[in-house]
Amino acid sequence: MGEILGLGLTHFGGFMFPDEEMAARIGAAMKSPKLPDHLRDPANWPARMREEWGSDKGAAFAAKHKTDFFAGVSHIRAALDDFKPDAVIIFGDDQYECFREDLVPPYCVFIMDKFQVKPYQRARGIGGPAINIWNDPLDTVIDYPGATRIAKTLAAELLGHGFDPAYSYSLPHQDYLGHAFANTLLFLDHARQGWPYPIIPFAINAYGSALIREKGGLDGAGSDDTEMDPPGPSPKRCYDLGVAIARALKPSPWRVALVATASFSHAFLTDKNHRLYPDLPADRERFAELKAGNYAAWRELPLSQLEASGQHELLNWYPVIGAMAELGQKPSYCELLETYTMNSNKCVALFPPAG
Ligand SMILES: [Fe+2]
Repeated sequence: MGEILGLGLTHFGGFMFPDEEMAARIGAAMKSPKLPDHLRDPANWPARMREEWGSDKGAAFAAKHKTDFFAGVSHIRAALDDFKPDAVIIFGDDQYECFREDLVPPYCVFIMDKFQVKPYQRARGIGGPAINIWNDPLDTVIDYPGATRIAKTLAAELLGHGFDPAYSYSLPHQDYLGHAFANTLLFLDHARQGWPYPIIPFAINAYGSALIREKGGLDGAGSDDTEMDPPGPSPKRCYDLGVAIARALKPSPWRVALVATASFSHAFLTDKNHRLYPDLPADRERFAELKAGNYAAWRELPLSQLEASGQHELLNWYPVIGAMAELGQKPSYCELLETYTMNSNKCVALFPPAG
C-alpha cells in the first residue's frame, strides 16, 4: 500500500532576496495609476501596515517574516526526509510561463526524466535584485530528477477515473520549470543539504481569468480594455482531483509526497484593497478551516469568492486538501504568517499519514 505525506508552503519570490528588497511589490503598487491618492501616503495605511513599514521600509519586519518562514520550512523538510518519498508531486501555478496564448489547460502533469530550474531568471527579467540570500550566481541552473513512471501511472489512473489532466513530455516556451516549482524546490532545500527526490510538477491554471489578460500578474495594474480570460478550474474540481489522486496512489507501492505551493491572498490580485495589501480576514478564515481539518468548507467556496480575495493561487492547495480529506490526514503543523507589506499571507503546513 502506498503512503502519502502532505506538505504546504509558499513560493513567494521575496524570500530569495535581501530583507530590504522584500517589500518590492509595495513600490510597484505605489506607482500604479489606479492607486487612490490617499494611499500613496503611508500615514493613511492600516495601522498594522504602518507598523510593519516602520522607518526602514519594512526591512526589519521582512527579516522576521523570513526567519519564521524558513523555521517552518525546516520543520516540513525534516518530515519529508524522514518519510523518504519515491516521488514529490508539486502543485504550482503557471503564471504565463508554459501556459500561454497557444494552449491553456486547466492543469497539466509534466512527465520528464529530468528538469532544469533557473531560479533567478524571472526576477532578473523584471529588474529584480542582483543578489540572493545564498549568493548564487544569477545564471545558476539546478537539475532535478523526474519520476516518469509514477507520473505516467498517475496520469493514466486519473484519465481512467474521469479526470482529464493534460500531460506534456516537454516544457513549452522555456527550457526550465516555472517560478512556483523553482522557488519551492529552492526553499525546501534552503539549508543546502541537497535534494535527492524525483519530482512531478503538476501545473494548475490558478490565474484563470487573469492569466493572459494580466500575463499571470506580471502586468500588475491589469488592462481595463481587455476582456477577462475564461476562468481556471473550479475549487471543487481541484479538490476532487486531489481525492482522485489519493485513490490512485493509495493502492500503489509508492511513497509519495504531495506539495501545495502558494501564498494565500496576494496583494497584487486584491482589488478590494486597491492591490496594496492582501485580504487578511479571508486568509484567517481559510487558515482556521485548514487547521481544524474542515476541508469540506474549502470545497464549497466558489472561484469568484477566492478571486475577490486575491486567493487565486489557493487552487494549488486544493488537490492536496482533497487528498488529505480522502485519506483522513489532519495537519500536525499549521502556521499562518500574516503581513500587510510582504505581498501575501503565507501558510506552512504538514499533514502526516494517518495512524
Ligand atoms: Fe505563483
